[in-house]
Amino acid sequence: MNIAIIGSGNVGGALAKRFADVGHQIILGVRNISEFKGKELLSYSKNISANTIPEAVKAAEIIIISVPAQLTSEVAKSLGDVSGKIIIDTMNAVSLKPEGFTNTGDAIIANCNTSEIVKCFNTTGFENILNPIYEGKGIDMFTAGSSEKARQVAQQLAKEIGFENVYHFGGNDKFTLIEQFAFSWINLAILQKQGRDMAFRIVRR
Ligand SMILES: NC(=O)c1ccc[n+]([C@@H]2O[C@H](COP(=O)([O-])OP(=O)(O)OC[C@H]3O[C@@H](n4cnc5c(N)ncnc54)[C@H](OP(=O)(O)O)[C@@H]3O)[C@@H](O)[C@H]2O)c1
Repeated sequence: MNIAIIGSGNVGGALAKRFADVGHQIILGVRNISEFKGKELLSYSKNISANTIPEAVKAAEIIIISVPAQLTSEVAKSLGDVSGKIIIDTMNAVSLKPEGFTNTGDAIIANCNTSEIVKCFNTTGFENILNPIYEGKGIDMFTAGSSEKARQVAQQLAKEIGFENVYHFGGNDKFTLIEQFAFSWINLAILQKQGRDMAFRIVRR
């Protein structure tokens, strides 16, 4: 698949590497093509290139947004025409929120001409995206959003890069809940000082 990634920092960079590893074409959508966080990704894989944000979006069927949450509306507006395209939102409105919204998914929906939006890859640290294997088995990933098409694509991508199961939280009304779930990881890993090498997996009896 052709995947545009807007925001090539910790999370966007980790996803770019992993998706390139499994054969996807990654186009980083950047503000300044000569200077941006993650520029070294260009030498990581021949499957990774960079372009302006509108050109990256034009070339892709999947768009991943991974920028600071308070910039969501501005970045969503900068994408241009995204009709029929899928947007994967990896963001969490941890402290700063997109103005007028409680979560980033709602801010994307309000500022883009696609309803194919899913939240995914937001519930764990970027180190766990680079390497989701614990005790010989992938950790779990989680999605939220009303678009079945977007959910299926996010699920497939998560499994391709090593996540074991992908559990769906529900529709767009669960955007805030999945961000709160991410805050639980942040709380344990960072605020309660358990360390970032920890992850969630559902177990059953
Ligand atoms: N860090 C984690 O482990 C983690 C885990 C799960 C979810 N998240 C969420 O993922 C998002 C990204 O976090 P991160 O840690 O990857 O951030 P980061 O390393 O600080 O990277 C931010 C990226 O956003 C880009 N950016 C900033 N302003 C922009 C704009 N106006 N237009 C286009 N691009 C812009 C930056 O590009 P430039 O180089 O041009 O500045 C940079 O590539 C956040 O919402 C965070 O809550 C983070």
